[in-house]
Amino acid sequence: MISTVFLELTNYCNMNCDFCANHMMTREKGYMSIECTKQVIDQLKQMKFQGTVITSLMGEPLLHPKFVEILKYSTNSGIKTNVITNFLLVPEKITVKKLLNAGIETLCLSYQTPNEKTFKIRRVNKAFCDYENKLMEILIFAINNKIKTQRIEIHLLQSLYNYLNVEIIEDYSLIEASILKIYDALYSDGFMPSKKNINKRTILKSINKFKRGNQYQDAYDIQIGPNIYVVLKRANTWANSLIPRGCQVDPEIKGNCGFFNSSLGIFWDGRCTVCCQDFDGSIFIGDIKSSSIEDILSGKVLTEMRNMEDMGLLMNPYCQICNGTIRRDGKNYSIIKKHGIINKGFNLANRVKSRLIQ
Ligand SMILES: C[S@@+](CC[C@H](N)C(=O)[O-])C[C@H]1O[C@@H](n2cnc3c(N)ncnc32)[C@H](O)[C@@H]1O
Ligand code: SF4
Ligand code: SF4
Repeated sequence: MISTVFLELTNYCNMNCDFCANHMMTREKGYMSIECTKQVIDQLKQMKFQGTVITSLMGEPLLHPKFVEILKYSTNSGIKTNVITNFLLVPEKITVKKLLNAGIETLCLSYQTPNEKTFKIRRVNKAFCDYENKLMEILIFAINNKIKTQRIEIHLLQSLYNYLNVEIIEDYSLIEASILKIYDALYSDGFMPSKKNINKRTILKSINKFKRGNQYQDAYDIQIGPNIYVVLKRANTWANSLIPRGCQVDPEIKGNCGFFNSSLGIFWDGRCTVCCQDFDGSIFIGDIKSSSIEDILSGKVLTEMRNMEDMGLLMNPYCQICNGTIRRDGKNYSIIKKHGIINKGFNLANRVKSRLIQ
């Protein structure tokens, strides 16, 4: 049984971040109908789905006109939801109170670019200080009120050791300063988190641990409040679609991927994929307008992909690119910046670890 469903409420977005595949997407844009979202939730309930529904694949979920209604329907059906949002529409379109009490289990706030310079790459006509204030408003409400959301994550995207074609957070001092700024804003009145083991010293210790090897992890959590975490996320290449200029990818058929057995992506128009990196719908496995989720998951296309994957082969051309070798001027090119033996070791260990988790 799969553990994650990416339910794309819309692929429209109110930002156009340089680090995202949004600007490469050629699919038609639209909103999932409320009937379709309910149909998906009903089917998952019937299947006794124990995993999590994430309310996006591409796009900004808060743009959906029926966002709260969908969340409530899912919660009432016993289906857990995670919301990943750029929170630009808070509180103008949805109040902080409504958002934090909609029944979301984990709310991921894609803060990502924590200063004026990095905020520019979100390509939105808004002042950084207003964006920062929105974040603080959500967090201050969360620590001062009883809310339904169980976990809040503030995501910071780092490209410390990746060459993409865009630079995001490039130094540790920005990470440290941003986390401490959030911490100070939250506890400015002297109020301390109920967990005694969270304070500036433990946070700095955690940041140091991140510097000493954990920067290669896909995600690294730093707790800053009772149920509030900063998550340092390593920027990815969108299956090798976002690579440095002048590079090409040699596709590779031999490989493995855990997504075939663990996740399902449903685009706003009902078409399905296996992968949250498949921004343009290149891995078509069925359509919920004509088949049930169960039929798609046990259908011919996915079964064949799984069987081949069992033999160490990736059949879909998009997967072969994702698994391919990046080259520049005819030579292999690594997007990992440092090549010391220790860095290589960490990288390898984390690759193995992420494969095992999948
Ligand atoms: C595609 S967005 C959709 C949801 C929403 N628009 C948002 O930004 O939160 C899902 C998540 O992917 C993150 N993301 C985008 N590009 C990324 C990249 N190159 N590496 C890692 N995460 C990325 C976003 O910041 C966000 O947290
Ligand atoms: S990361 Fe989210 S907010 Fe940014 S362009 Fe992509 S979908 Fe939109
Ligand atoms: S191999 Fe295919 S399914 Fe796996 S992460 Fe890459 S694109 Fe997605």
